[in-house]
Amino acid sequence: MSGELLYEGKAKRVYGSDQDDAVVMEFKDDATAFNGEKRGQIAQKGVINRALTTRIYRYLEEHRIPTHVLAEIDDRRLLVRRLEMIGLEVVVRNRVAGSLCQRTGLEEGTGLQSPIVEFYFKNDRLGDPLLNDDHILALNLADESTIHDLRALALRVNRVLTPFLFERDLILVDFKLEFGRFQGQLMLGDEISPDTCRLWDRVSLNKLDKDRFRRDLGDVEEAYQEVWRRVQR
Ligand code: TMP
Repeated sequence: MSGELLYEGKAKRVYGSDQDDAVVMEFKDDATAFNGEKRGQIAQKGVINRALTTRIYRYLEEHRIPTHVLAEIDDRRLLVRRLEMIGLEVVVRNRVAGSLCQRTGLEEGTGLQSPIVEFYFKNDRLGDPLLNDDHILALNLADESTIHDLRALALRVNRVLTPFLFERDLILVDFKLEFGRFQGQLMLGDEISPDTCRLWDRVSLNKLDKDRFRRDLGDVEEAYQEVWRRVQR
């Protein structure tokens, strides 16, 4: 099923497939933080993130959000459309956490009047710096209408996913998306998992995401498994 290795990232590998317009995405147990400075493994993370991404992307498709997912191959691999990726990471925030604490001085968990959408330059060498619309236009990473569509799609994902997760006792604090084009159409690529979201327990506000790894909070595997258990409800 898998062809030649096309790309290896920190948490996934991408292989060619027997279809020109599709590739195989393989989820690894490897975890990194702080732009690769901290490295480790989270047992069964690849299996859980593959399962979570499939479940969540199906749900988004049911809500008319186009995604790259085509089919499950096995417990670590998905067949996905070959997108022409846009070189941006699109972050949506519902509460203050992570780098927004540093940027605003606000306390972690502070609520926001309205969600914040941020764009980051997907560039490991530079450590994925924050960009505004003018930077994106000047660097020719996307045009004005694409920026508008990315923002709208990211907010739609937030509107669909926030209640889906809340019904499962999870607060969607913030998350990161990556988009690309398939035959001209903008689609959600990459993954949605505890690697790319902040998820807090609705009652205790316990962290159930990669912050447990980033900050050495312990029970990392258990948190990923708990999210998968709840999403299956
Ligand atoms: P931040 O607060 O560190 O900027 O992260 C915002 C969100 O983006 C958070 O849910 C974690 C996610 N994220 C990634 O998926 N990949 C990354 O490289 C970083 C820095 C954050």
